Amino acid sequence: MTKVTFIENNGNRIEAIAEVGQSLMQVAVNSGVSGISAECGGACACGTCHCYVVGNGLVTLPTPDGDEADMIEFVIDPKANSRLSCQIAITPDLDGLIVHIPASQT
Ligand code: FES
Repeated sequence: MTKVTFIENNGNRIEAIAEVGQSLMQVAVNSGVSGISAECGGACACGTCHCYVVGNGLVTLPTPDGDEADMIEFVIDPKANSRLSCQIAITPDLDGLIVHIPASQT
């Protein structure tokens, strides 16, 4: 089990227990996080699962590459810690991950 904390753009914190192998997007959707609509269902084709990873995530997550990096160029307000949550697979070393939802995604 991996604990993930989502911080919605209104400041609301949602703590979730994620299972290894789930995508971070799936965890957000299953937890009712506002702002992750995931319109393409995880195909790395919409950018509506955009998030900012902080805390433990910066240490353990590799930088995005390939299709994910290309798609991040098209999201609103990309930052150095931008990721597409559908492209992040939950692993035990992500325990403590903190994820901010961009203000543009309400
Ligand atoms: S759900 Fe569409 S890019 Fe992640």
